[in-house]
Amino acid sequence: MEPVLSVEGLAVSYGPVAALQPISFHLAQGGLALVLGPNGAGKSSLVRALAGAVRPRQGAIQLAGQDVTRIPAYKRVKRGIALVPEGRGTLPGLSVLDNLDLGWHSAPPERRRSKAESFAEITGLFPVLGQRLQQDCKTLSGGEMQMLAIARALLSRPRVLLLDEPSLGLAPQAVARVYRALAQLNQANGLSMVLVEQKSVNLGRLPDTSIVLHSGHIVYQESNRRPAEEELSALYLGVAVGAA
Ligand SMILES: Nc1ncnc2c1ncn2[C@@H]1O[C@H](COP(=O)(O)OP(=O)(O)OP(=O)(O)O)[C@@H](O)[C@H]1O
Ligand SMILES: [Mg+2]
Repeated sequence: MEPVLSVEGLAVSYGPVAALQPISFHLAQGGLALVLGPNGAGKSSLVRALAGAVRPRQGAIQLAGQDVTRIPAYKRVKRGIALVPEGRGTLPGLSVLDNLDLGWHSAPPERRRSKAESFAEITGLFPVLGQRLQQDCKTLSGGEMQMLAIARALLSRPRVLLLDEPSLGLAPQAVARVYRALAQLNQANGLSMVLVEQKSVNLGRLPDTSIVLHSGHIVYQESNRRPAEEELSALYLGVAVGAA
């Protein structure tokens, strides 16, 4: 079956700074790609390039067999790539409902479902958002804010959901709630995901692809397994020591 996402030799630089060396991977429909790495590894550069928020230095991105490498970010959302950015990107000053509305409007008309149906699905997944619809989103807790960011991305009806450190700054209980929702979306709903984190994550299944980045280099790339904690620490430390 054709992969939903194909990444071939994708590299990112900011001027003279090489943030991400060429990386290639394929994600099957309903698959999970886990991307790990310490600060400055190039994780955000990768997902931002996939979403069209930064222009890659080289390489190609295909979504369901169609080249999207040169398509601007706002059009890529319509094609089905949604990014939940690091820091969440919810809009303070707007209510929860208005934030969700923006997500719903960014879905392409042919894939968009009725507002009632879409919002029912979201409040089923995140009941707390249903109780906060009229609140300014800046009054939400960190966990609720992350749920809102994920919900907004889901309303754009993505084929691939990119999540940049969704656990960042959250209490363990909130992390568990967010991961439970992600596991359900991936496994029950078959939503394809690229999940970026610093620490290894268990979504109740092995990732189809696990990638560990360090200073823009791929230091680990495996199918159907994820690095154990000790292995990950050794990779983070080993490269740091090796680079010193
Ligand atoms: N807009 C930018 N201009 C210049 N350099 C940048 C820019 N964004 C990121 N970089 C650099 O690119 C490298 C990779 O950054 P990136 O944000 O992709 O890492 P990351 O793995 O997401 O890190 P973190 O865990 O801190 O979020 C870093 O050295 C960073 O300083
Ligand atoms: Mg980052």
